[in-house]
Amino acid sequence: MEVVRETAVLRRILGGWRRAGAKVALVPTMGALHEGHLALVRHGREIAGRLVVSIFVNPAQFAPGEDFERYPRDEAGDLTRLEALGVDLAYLPDIGAMYAADHATWVVVEGPARGLCAEARPHFFRGVATVVAKLFNRVQPDLAIFGEKDYQQLLVVRRMVRDLDMPVEIVGHPTVREPDGLAMSSRNAYLSPEERRVAPELHRVLRDTAEALADGRPAAPLLAAARARLLAAGFTAVDYLEMRDAESLEPLEAVGTCPARLLAAARLGATRLIDNLAVAPVAGCEPNPFSR
Ligand code: PAF
Repeated sequence: MEVVRETAVLRRILGGWRRAGAKVALVPTMGALHEGHLALVRHGREIAGRLVVSIFVNPAQFAPGEDFERYPRDEAGDLTRLEALGVDLAYLPDIGAMYAADHATWVVVEGPARGLCAEARPHFFRGVATVVAKLFNRVQPDLAIFGEKDYQQLLVVRRMVRDLDMPVEIVGHPTVREPDGLAMSSRNAYLSPEERRVAPELHRVLRDTAEALADGRPAAPLLAAARARLLAAGFTAVDYLEMRDAESLEPLEAVGTCPARLLAAARLGATRLIDNLAVAPVAGCEPNPFSR
């Protein structure tokens, strides 16, 4: 596996692969790799001839006072895991080379980037869209793989790619869960043993609520009951628990004929967990041509 930190070296290697006709996939990560990331990497290995994994803890998607400094980092362990999975190139750009001191250009997505995670983290999607656009410009992948655990992020990246005519296919990959249902996340490492015991309730509440919503009942009382159940279980706050159209993320009052998604963010002490689930697919909906 090539371990590359400089963009000029990256471009030289990627140029050679492209001239040889290779299909290149990119898995963008912030490191501290867990099974959820590794599932994306394995999928990338299956669908592309050359596989690049980037590791970059992106300061632009953290607000002052958030966990940028203490975000888990394990470069040596990450590189060992990636090498074992047959990754061709690990790209670890330097912060100074990613954002010049006078960096002044940002990618701002509207539509699916409004509401949900953006309410509590208004800076977040601008930071994600900008760094993903920069990684796409540097790597120029044919495919890029993102986890459905960050469902709003996945839709924001898809919309950016569609709206800015970026020649890359965005591949979504299902959420990988612990045996008790907790969605895998680097931030799970912050949970105390007691918080870790409570955390899977987020998935259970989403699962039960998604089942209850699937018959078309009005969503508001079911969503209110779900929020109350999380607080009763020991969550300290529920940032949101909402049902949205699965493609546009427009709010829904009840399940209709198009796929719906239940999305939540809730806090356990200082840790904010997010998760989401599909609400049973319904017949009769035309697939959105931009969804893949
Ligand atoms: O999902 C993540 O780990 C990050 O938001 C991403 C996509 C790597 C951008 O920094």
